[in-house]
Amino acid sequence: MKKILILGAGIYQVPLIKIAKELGIYTIVASIHGNYPGFEIADKVYYENTTDYRKILSIARREEIDGIVTAGTDVAVITIGKVCDALGLRGLSFEAAEFATDKLLMKQCYEKYGVRSAKFRRVSFDDPNYANIIADLTLPVMFKSVDSSGSRGIVKVDSPSEYDHARNIVLENTRSDYFIVEEYIEGEEFGAQAFVQDGKLEFILPHGDYVFKGDTGVPVGHFAPYELDPEILEDAGHQLAAAARAMQLDNCAINADFILKDGKTYVLELGGRSGATCLAELVSIYYGFDYYEKIVRVAIGEKVDFGISSGLSGQDGVPNASMLLVSDRDGVIVSQENRNAPDPDIVEVQFDHRPGDAVHKFRVGPHRIGHVITKGKSLDDAVSLLHKALDNITIEVE
Ligand SMILES: Nc1ncnc2c1ncn2[C@@H]1O[C@H](COP(=O)(O)OP(=O)(O)O)[C@@H](O)[C@H]1O
Ligand SMILES: [Mg+2]
Repeated sequence: MKKILILGAGIYQVPLIKIAKELGIYTIVASIHGNYPGFEIADKVYYENTTDYRKILSIARREEIDGIVTAGTDVAVITIGKVCDALGLRGLSFEAAEFATDKLLMKQCYEKYGVRSAKFRRVSFDDPNYANIIADLTLPVMFKSVDSSGSRGIVKVDSPSEYDHARNIVLENTRSDYFIVEEYIEGEEFGAQAFVQDGKLEFILPHGDYVFKGDTGVPVGHFAPYELDPEILEDAGHQLAAAARAMQLDNCAINADFILKDGKTYVLELGGRSGATCLAELVSIYYGFDYYEKIVRVAIGEKVDFGISSGLSGQDGVPNASMLLVSDRDGVIVSQENRNAPDPDIVEVQFDHRPGDAVHKFRVGPHRIGHVITKGKSLDDAVSLLHKALDNITIEVE
């Protein structure tokens, strides 16, 4: 029996655990303690911090695993790189993982290899004159923690009077002694899911993002296809491929964040794992395969056929759309109700919690309390069904 080590036991890893079990693979989950749904379904659980790569590596050795993987989070990617390198497993390298989880290293890769990306500067927290270093950047700018995710430690700054405040927010959200400041790109945010196997991009699937405008943009939903002019689509694919090469990403899923400005795609960042917020599901529905299965199979060393004949970023898949369920207040869930009649085009309505669970007023991704995914003959159909389905869902929080 093959063995896979899955890092994380949260809602974004549950589908990985389930499909691995269905494939007859022994599932070992590592995660910190907490109220995580993956614990109940895994064959074996280690309560360890997934960022502690020494501990995870010793578990991987002891268990003689065949593969290591995660989904929907950057937190454990560095550990995956470490373990893959040490044990010769299929997956991204430690170096690639470092590029993918340190925003400064990533930006330096992009600069070196000519990937289109916002102009940036590195700033030390102990530099009292840091304003000079960023003086030649055009406002507004983004202050960014280099090692956080989920929009934590990312602050938009409109004038120099806000610098110190923004710097302090970044400081609270990083373990690093420096951060980056980059120019704000005013445009439309979108993304792409992709997969690279043995150096070959198996697909690039651009998707639209529904963004919640809080302190920064937080993605709350997605849709595909994302209609783009052919030249723009080609440029986006080119930027993604160049960024993936620059970061040496291989044998991993790719989650790309872009901003489209004046018909040009700017790369915000690439992650070396599949996206959160229903993005793996978006890929599965669009192409008609189980994306989690592909991810698991590659991780345990199989050469996987993605069977995508329509070109790298074909626009002829199954249109679909998703949206997170969120709360508008801090409180406790009193009741949750889904009044939608069964409909094959309502692919999934998921409640993350049970009544009695405490939830947050939505500000960042982890505050989600559920999701809805729909599909349709056209994107319009999928999107209007999404809104209809959302109207028939009530989660009461008090
Ligand atoms: N240079 C930028 N211009 C405009 N918006 C940005 C820029 N950088 C980040 N953002 C916004 O902040 C969000 C989070 O930034 P990102 O670099 O992707 O960090 P995270 O790892 O937290 O996702 C983006 O999705 C986008 O909405
Ligand atoms: Mg991002």
